[in-house]
Amino acid sequence: MKLLIATKNPGKVREMREMLAPEAARGLEVLTLADFPPVPEPVEDAGTFIENARIKALAYAEALGVTCIADDSGISVEPLGGRPGVHSARYAGEQATDEENNARLLSELAKVSKPWPASYFCAAVAAVPGRVIAEGHGRICGRITTNRAGSGGFGYDPYFIVEGRVETMAELSPGEKNRISHRGQAMRALVRSLRELGALE
Ligand code: IMP
Repeated sequence: MKLLIATKNPGKVREMREMLAPEAARGLEVLTLADFPPVPEPVEDAGTFIENARIKALAYAEALGVTCIADDSGISVEPLGGRPGVHSARYAGEQATDEENNARLLSELAKVSKPWPASYFCAAVAAVPGRVIAEGHGRICGRITTNRAGSGGFGYDPYFIVEGRVETMAELSPGEKNRISHRGQAMRALVRSLRELGALE
């Protein structure tokens, strides 16, 4: 059985591989886009995380003829009216780096008073060619800080303090982040559904 994790984000690949480790140990072949010839990137132009995740999972499953998992995720910041939301990856521009996106976030927040509550959301979708077979989602709440801390994770993690804790998401170990994160929750729900369907055997 082959399963394609359809993302080019190395941070996501690492986290998803860790989560699928038990199935991989039982023979599931976990592939990434690097294992296939290049295919055109689908346009993620929907207004919600779940719709964007469906677009990606279906597009890659169809193009490559394999069961495919895709996720769409981002951060919504309350005093910014939920922005950057579905635009998190390109908040500072189409090819923006994490550093540029974080700089934009902090400059927008400098215009509004604290506190700065925020949440990460993730929708995860599995598809076979032509059909979505399972979905999962997850959310983690917290707040944005200007005091950068930690070197783990990716994206906005060094500036996101997890609710009820003092550390930023980037200060958590990968295992700890997986246990509580939006992507961890979404992927576990998705993997549970796929197991129930017998789709990982
Ligand atoms: P996607 O690849 O379209 O799902 O965009 C996800 C973007 O949201 C990333 O590029 C990050 O900017 C942000 N993001 C999503 N999940 C995380 C996370 O776990 N940590 C930090 N940033 C995240």
